[in-house]
Amino acid sequence: MSKELIVLDNLSKIYDGCTTALNEINLSISRGDWTSITGPSGSGKTTLLNMVSCLDKPTSGSIMIGETKINDLNQTELTRFRRENIGLIFQQHYLIPYLSALENVMLPMYYNNNKDESIAIKTLKRVGLGHRLHSIPAKLSGGEQQRVCIARSLINNPRILIADEPTGNLDQKNGRVVLNLIKEIHEAGNTILLVTHNSKIAREGDRIVQIIDGKVSMSNMTVIN
Ligand SMILES: Nc1ncnc2c1ncn2[C@@H]1O[C@H](COP(=O)(O)OP(=O)(O)OP(=O)(O)O)[C@@H](O)[C@H]1O
Ligand SMILES: [Mg+2]
Repeated sequence: MSKELIVLDNLSKIYDGCTTALNEINLSISRGDWTSITGPSGSGKTTLLNMVSCLDKPTSGSIMIGETKINDLNQTELTRFRRENIGLIFQQHYLIPYLSALENVMLPMYYNNNKDESIAIKTLKRVGLGHRLHSIPAKLSGGEQQRVCIARSLINNPRILIADEPTGNLDQKNGRVVLNLIKEIHEAGNTILLVTHNSKIAREGDRIVQIIDGKVSMSNMTVIN
């Protein structure tokens, strides 16, 4: 089995034919590594995560995840691939507004024919929301919604966790809860790709990749804690 899990080859994304968000990115991510991605606002970080998580297609270049060339998959295959391999924590929450916290977390389980409510309850308790199981998103604070989203992303034990500013909306205490969870997931052998503006959080990773103007400006930096 190859050491590299995610390989981006000359990856470009041009929006609307004029905005170059990613400009020929070459990047390899090793299995089990935690890669932190930093860079100024608008530099292409979320675009990069959207490509790797199969939410959007590149304009050119290729993405390999394990043995799978993502470019070759159709929409149904992409959705299934993502569901089986990737956990996502977004900058926005995308919770289903009419479902409770518990139902939102259970949603990805249904797709995998798993209806074991106790796992979802346990995961919500892990993110400190045992007392909000039956609240709909509108009755939750922004940080609580973020934590529901995190619980949902962890529910199927993804081997790749992709997180866009996962602690951005959280206070210090809940930020630490979430960070500790991500550390646990990493220590269990999973691969983490995490975007953050916070240099302290970035340094929790094995490696920091800086994106500036859609290009990798600094990579392969080994983090010394
Ligand atoms: N759907 C879209 N359509 C057109 N342009 C877009 C779209 N999404 C992003 N862009 C543009 O692409 C560039 C990169 O955006 P991206 O969201 O990847 O930045 P970012 O590094 O995540 O920024 P931030 O730190 O503010 O989240 C920006 O110039 C942005 O305006
Ligand atoms: Mg972003």
